[in-house]
Amino acid sequence: EADLESKLPLKGKKILITAGPTYEAIDPVRFIGNHSSGKMGFDIANCAASLGAEVILVSGPTHFKVKNDFINLIKVVSAQEMYDTCHQYYKDVDVAIAAAAVADYRPKVVADQKIKKSDTCFSIELEKTKDILASLGEIKKNQFLIGFALETENEIENAKLKIQKKNLDLIVLNSLQDEGAGFGKPTNKITFIDSNFTIEPMDLKSKEEVAQDIINKVIEHYHA
Ligand code: CTP
Ligand code: CA
Repeated sequence: EADLESKLPLKGKKILITAGPTYEAIDPVRFIGNHSSGKMGFDIANCAASLGAEVILVSGPTHFKVKNDFINLIKVVSAQEMYDTCHQYYKDVDVAIAAAAVADYRPKVVADQKIKKSDTCFSIELEKTKDILASLGEIKKNQFLIGFALETENEIENAKLKIQKKNLDLIVLNSLQDEGAGFGKPTNKITFIDSNFTIEPMDLKSKEEVAQDIINKVIEHYHA
């Protein structure tokens, strides 16, 4: 019993994870997206599942596949689809981790035919997408809620604001300052900030190791 506990410390826990970019359609052949590969979210999912958790991985378009039977991969495309899917599962989970790079805006109108070019300038009116993480924070009961923050200036201050605004228990601040960190890179430079505003800067590490550090925070939460 004690042995199982130490090998599978997340046994019995359900974890919802978002990953990847979202694509917001402009017309049938075009979209607005971003460079997120989904690697961070998939690494977190693999780590959690290997430690016994049941994982619901809601991912935008990515080439990553899952190998673990304890990961239920649900593929979505748009921010709205990701929002709907997360809300379908959130009430039943113990932990939610928002690693997706969700589009902040989407075209207000999606053209039903391919938009033809013309000789003039062209612009698209955008409207805000729903903030998935903030909406989960709003209805939070016992869930341990973890978000990410990507900042390029006033990093700590901005991340603290996100903890408050989204009702988070922990935020993973992603630093783009470092050459080796971020989109498409195998490594990340993160800083943990918790809801007491305790700040813990971490070394530059592989995304697998960062995933392990994040999951360790979850384990600490349940076994402290
Ligand atoms: N997030 C989300 N839904 C959105 C936008 C963001 O769930 N529509 C989540 C991300 O998955 C991440 C966190 O919110 O965990 C912070 O994302 P980030 O882009 O850093 O912050 P925003 O709140 O979108 O603010 P801004 O981009 O203006 O810094
Ligand atoms: Ca954003």
